[in-house]
Amino acid sequence: MTADADYKPGLEDVPAAKSAVSFLDGKKAVLEYRGIPVEVLARESSFEEVSWLLIKGSLPTQKELADFDAELRQRRAIHYRLKDLIRCMPADGHPMDALHASVAALGMFYPCPTVADPAKNWDATCRLLAALPTVVAAFARSRRGEEIPEPRADLDHAGNFYYLLFGKEPTPAVRRVLDACLILHAEHTMNASTFAARVTGSTLATPYQTIASAVGALSGPLHGGANEEALRQFDEIGGPGNVKPWLDAKRTADPKYKVMGIGHRVYKVKDARATVLQEIAEHMFAESSRPKAYETALELERVCAGIYGPKGIYPNVDFYSGVVYSAIGIPTDVFTPIFAIARTAGWLAHWHEQLVGNRIFRPEQVFTGTTDVRYVPLAERP
Ligand code: ACO
Repeated sequence: MTADADYKPGLEDVPAAKSAVSFLDGKKAVLEYRGIPVEVLARESSFEEVSWLLIKGSLPTQKELADFDAELRQRRAIHYRLKDLIRCMPADGHPMDALHASVAALGMFYPCPTVADPAKNWDATCRLLAALPTVVAAFARSRRGEEIPEPRADLDHAGNFYYLLFGKEPTPAVRRVLDACLILHAEHTMNASTFAARVTGSTLATPYQTIASAVGALSGPLHGGANEEALRQFDEIGGPGNVKPWLDAKRTADPKYKVMGIGHRVYKVKDARATVLQEIAEHMFAESSRPKAYETALELERVCAGIYGPKGIYPNVDFYSGVVYSAIGIPTDVFTPIFAIARTAGWLAHWHEQLVGNRIFRPEQVFTGTTDVRYVPLAERP
């Protein structure tokens, strides 16, 4: 039995796997995908190229990228009965729940019953990357009573997703912002959802079940769901002038009050991704047309730095992502599904890595219950 002294709540600092997918130094705000800084990739690369990099381990050749891109474009469409399923989902349901159910259903329409066949694994890898934007957009449109559009094979990954969501092509600037956001969210070492993917993958469950587990883990407000909460928080504050009284009131009511979009288990400085997202936001908004939510976020960051900075609590990726998504018209409850679309690349990279020399996860527990309890028949109980 594990001793209490060995127990680390939340498995903090406990290595759960060996991985070469990404590197994170939380004290220096360094995040690298296969050795390449995420800031460089966000500026120079595309989501398609980054997905290959994460999954295959190195940058693709020009031919590899062209072939991979074509494979993705071929797998964007979803079965008409999956569309029927999505149409039947409650319109007021959360898009993350719709995504969770749809990812599991994808595995029934495009079966990959065993993970022993590399060709089927690759097909599922491409399908999950390519079809997630389609199912996210399908629910976003059908819940408003709109037609579910067919994907466009002539657009890139980010452009096609925007088209599916809004029925029109993005401007080049908006397409670039969306692509950069997907790159920034594509991978982040051993976080809760990646761990969930590796645990499910370690049972040799299908890739669809593996990604569905990760989607479930990502949905919580302490993980991917924080971007929605962060934007709602800026709206609740109502403007930069209200930040200080708002925070004072929250901290008086609850001294442990958690400000959404700040703090991280690993980062003790500002998250590199938050810095890039803030640059994107600055670029999008001329000073005169900054949305109130962005002005509020800037002031909240300033005030929080004074209070929480000494504890190493600074903005994480979710602090500014919602402001950027909202500025390009994306509904608040679709922020986390976009995170999932992006993170699927990282989850799949970890799944492929897990399958090499796989060992099923089976941790220990510190037992805190009682033993040898007599079963009292119901008739003898009050
Ligand atoms: N606001 C205020 N105080 C905070 C915050 C916060 N957001 N985050 C941590 N703290 C404080 C805690 O109260 C605690 O203080 P104490 O030492 O006085 O008790 C200390 O910092 C350590 O906090 P923990 O909760 O133990 O830190 P942990 O590493 O477990 O949590 C987490 C990390 C869950 C991300 C946390 O910072 C949080 O809840 N943040 C808000 C939600 C959020 O933004 N999540 C997105 C994370 S990034 C991502 O998933 C993509």
